This record gives sequence, C-alpha cells and structure tokens, in this order.
Amino acid sequence: MMFAEKASPSQRQLLMDRSRPGRRAATVPRRDVPAAPLHPVRWRRASLPLPEVSEGELVRYFVALSQRNYGVDSGFYPLGSCTMKYNPKWHDEMAALPGFAQLHPLQEEESAQGALRLMHDLQGYLADVTGLEAVSLCPAAGAGGELAGMLMIRAYHRARRDAQRAQVLIPDSAHGTNPASAAMAGFEVAHVPSDSDGNTDLEALRGMLSGRTAAFMVTMPNTLGLFEPRIAAACRLVHEAGGLVYGDGANLNAILGRAKLGELGFDIVHMNLHKTFSTPHGGGGPGAGPVAVARRLAPYLPEPQVARQGGVYHLARPRRSIGRLTAFHGNFGVLVRAWAYIRLMGAVGLRQVSENAVINANYLRVQLKDAYQLPYDRPCMHEVVLSASRQRAKGVRALDIAKRLIDYGFHPPTMYFPLIVPEALMIEPTETESKETLDAFIAALLAMAQEAEENPQLLQEAPHHTPISRLDEAKAARQPDLRWRPR
Ligand SMILES: Cc1ncc(COP(=O)(O)O)c(C=O)c1O
Repeated sequence: MMFAEKASPSQRQLLMDRSRPGRRAATVPRRDVPAAPLHPVRWRRASLPLPEVSEGELVRYFVALSQRNYGVDSGFYPLGSCTMKYNPKWHDEMAALPGFAQLHPLQEEESAQGALRLMHDLQGYLADVTGLEAVSLCPAAGAGGELAGMLMIRAYHRARRDAQRAQVLIPDSAHGTNPASAAMAGFEVAHVPSDSDGNTDLEALRGMLSGRTAAFMVTMPNTLGLFEPRIAAACRLVHEAGGLVYGDGANLNAILGRAKLGELGFDIVHMNLHKTFSTPHGGGGPGAGPVAVARRLAPYLPEPQVARQGGVYHLARPRRSIGRLTAFHGNFGVLVRAWAYIRLMGAVGLRQVSENAVINANYLRVQLKDAYQLPYDRPCMHEVVLSASRQRAKGVRALDIAKRLIDYGFHPPTMYFPLIVPEALMIEPTETESKETLDAFIAALLAMAQEAEENPQLLQEAPHHTPISRLDEAKAARQPDLRWRPR
C-alpha cells in the first residue's frame, strides 16, 4: 500500500471483495427475438470472474465512490489560478439541446446555421471583451491558445522576413504553461525578473529587449494575483523594439468589463472559457482557449473561423492561417455554455463578476494577513498569494496546511506556485462564493495557524478524516496500482 489506510473496512471494500456467488444486480428481460447460437466453445473463456453482487450493494458501492469525490458542487474549492467557481446548470441544459448536442461536425453548413451563428456571435463578444479585432474559437485549452499565439507570432515575423526574432521574454511570475508553449513553438525563453512589488521589472525588460525579441508573454493579472500598473508602458517598450505582446488572459474574471487588454497594447490574448465563461475547470473534461488578436495578426489565426457573408454563416480559413489545432471546430459544447453565460450576464453582469472576484480575494487577504505572511502587501485581483514561511519555522509546510484544510471540509488551495514565493498558498475564492463561506474558510485557516503554534504534528499528519491519508505521490504517478487481483 502506498498510503496510510484510514478507511473503515466497509469503505475500503472493493466491488470484487463484496462478491458472493449467485447474487445478481441485473434482471435480464424476457427474450423477444429468436435465440442465436453462441460463439464456438473454443472461443469462450473457461471462467470470467465478474463480481456477483445485489443491485443494492452495487448502488451503495458506486454512491460511496462518488461521495469520495470533491467538486465545486459539493463545497468551496479555492484552487488558485483555476477559477473553480459555481457554473449555472442552465448552461449545461443549453449545451444539451438536441439541436446542438446532436449536430454532426461534417453536417452541411446550410443545416447548421444556428450553431455557426452562435460561434460567430461568440467571436464578436470575445473580441469586445478583449478590445481586439478578431477571434478564433478553436484551441481546446488555455495552453492550446498559447501555442496558437506563439505559432502566429512566429509566422508573423517570418512573413516580414524578421525570422531572427527567436526569443520570447516571460516574467518569472508567469503561469507555467507560458514558457512551455513558447518552447514548443520553437522559441528560446528568457525570464524577466519581478521587482519588489511583484510587478515585471521594467528596467530589466528594457535591458533584455533586442532585435531578437519575438514577443513579451505576460500573464494578466500575474500569478501573484496582481495587476501590473505599468503594463501599457511595458507594451510600448516591446513594440518599439519590434516585438509583439502576448497576454495570458486565462484569469479574465479579474478584469471583465473593466480593462480591455487590447486597449492596453496587447496584440494577442487567449481566454479560458472553461474557467471564466461557465464550464468547470480542472475536471479533465473539454475546454476552450480562444485566441483574440489585433488587426495585423488576424490573417494568421488558426482555422476554422466563422464568417458571415450575405446573411449566411460559413467556416473560413484566414488568409495566412497557421492551420488547424483541433479536430473540426474545437469543443462546441463549451462554446454554447460561454455564449449562454455572456447573454445571461450581459455587460452589467460581467462587470459584477470582476467586482465580486476581486472583493472576495481582498476580503481573504485582509482577514488572513496577520496569521500568514503576505509577500506583496497591496490590493490583489482575483486571488491572493500567502506564504506559510512563518509556519515553516514551526515545522509546518504549505503542504501540511493544504492537507489539514481537508479535515476542515475545504479543498486545498494551489501550493508552491508561483515559484517566486516560498511555501506559497495561492487562494482563489472566485466570484460566486458567499461571505458566510469565506468566513468559514477564514476561521479554518486562523484555527490552523493556532494549531501550527501549539501542535504542529496535527498538521503534519493530516488529513485525519479521509478514507486515505497521504499518498506517496511520486510512486502513485509512476507505479499506479490499478488492477484488482484475487487475494
Ligand atoms: C493563468 C493561466 N494560464 C494558462 C492556463 C492553462 O490553461 P489550460 O489548463 O486550459 O491549458 C491556466 C490554467 O488554469 C492559467 O491559470
């Protein structure tokens, strides 16, 4: 076993262990077709050890499994940078409408005008939200949007016979996918340091810009949860040096309706529809990371885009398109949810989103900053990054705090990220949580700060009330033991 077992025997029992000969969960209906011969005996297995359980046992088994899962629909989920907010169920119903759910991607355009119109509208809404000219919806994730952006930047410089621009400058407070995407697109990555306020150090940036600079790629707000007040100046510097500015807009719930990145000087921005616009993030399900671009980059967008001509919608390939990044049109159901969300909220509602997201994060910041170290003591945006370095002195790490939160009934925050904050706890309350929930979470964290002083072991051995406690995570990833074998 690679974990300390804390489950009761019945919780631990696998379906196979519950098996008793002769028990059945299925009732086979009376045959109403002629009997057909089975495969020849030589093709049949001698035995097939399937579990034999009653229907009641089967239901209990799967319900118990489902209850071990934790999601936004079961509780507070402050996983920083992931925007684990509540998403209205009505949007799922919209995506499940037969006219959308049963469309075939190869269907003729004349018979899919409604779906194409929805995509066309959404391109327009997202262009408006970002203050940019044109949008392609097809990337299937935030990191896919980043890759699309980087490939467009490469194609743009090549088309201008400026291919020596091979370097992408990325602040050390960027999301981890940013340097990975730039490297995947064939760029060399150089890190720009942050200054003591948590902003990109503009002097360092100025010193790093050169004729080799392809782009400056910056997460906005950055992963410290901070808005960079001199971002417009940074964009100007990059443009003067002949580079482009890429904005990671995955955390758009921080600025929706308040700041348009295109107006601040960004040339390309990706958004995570599966965070900001009503599809749950982090479940390993489908996503969408549309890219929005300034006019000069529009010809390079990935295909397909949806265009409208003479009142008819059709799929189009931008003139110098970098090509396809996903099969067909990306994850269409996610687009339907985003469209429904934007229409439901309207401009006033979207503005309210960013207001609530920022107020909630700042409420946590102010309530917790005496108990936990606050590395950058200034108002934050949608998330607050604390450090457990004070608790570390007592032998309690950010990991222990995260695990102990499970005992208090909360999902842990993101830990050890951003890398520039030691013992980081990155907490994103999101805009959909009530003051009562935030107060309960604050009370838990304050109680834990006290526990760290008085009884560090309590945190070091947490969680205490879950079926399993701490995994050997490296072993679980490298040698997963997923197979049942008879004892
Ligand atoms: C700031 C930021 N950028 C990029 C990403 C990557 O998005 P995805 O997981 O959809 O690839 C995330 C993920 O949440 C993010 O928070």
